[in-house]
Amino acid sequence: MPVQIGAKAHSFSDPTGLLSDCHRRIEMFLGALQNIAKVIDCPLTSEARAALESALRYFRESAPKHTADEEESLFPRLRRLQDPEIEGALATLDALEGDHRKAEALHAEVDALGIQCLDHESLPVKNADRFRRAVSDLASIYAEHIRVEDEVVFPAAKRRLSSPQQSAIANEMASRRNLSS
Ligand SMILES: [Fe+2]
Ligand SMILES: [Fe+2]
Repeated sequence: MPVQIGAKAHSFSDPTGLLSDCHRRIEMFLGALQNIAKVIDCPLTSEARAALESALRYFRESAPKHTADEEESLFPRLRRLQDPEIEGALATLDALEGDHRKAEALHAEVDALGIQCLDHESLPVKNADRFRRAVSDLASIYAEHIRVEDEVVFPAAKRRLSSPQQSAIANEMASRRNLSS
């Protein structure tokens, strides 16, 4: 039975498959934030409250590991290849790292406002607007960011990184989560 990160199907023999699985979880929890944003100026139901807590926890604790998988394990190995055949993918890496910084700042704002909502049952209108804007900005960033990674960067990595390089990435991903592959 292959070791898995979260609930999806890719194994540690396919680290970019695991990274795409993480994208599906990012999309799912982002969708939860978008739903909560619609009602965040009203007292939350217990279901909405639980969904907000789960989404905030995911983006606080798990999503940073995904960013580290890319910035510390995947991107440096791709850059070292200096492979003209994946020029298109290499050209996107700086911008993708810039997106990570923008998303981190927006997540910090969403986290602070989300905690305020959980403490006070809802947000005042001004802060509800800030929450909505931050979630909407995250959705815009992630849509293109995830498309470029899933369709350009990960296929290039799968094609051009050797099996030992892919295993090394998988081992680093496992150790970030205290798993052994
Ligand atoms: Fe990324
Ligand atoms: Fe990603």
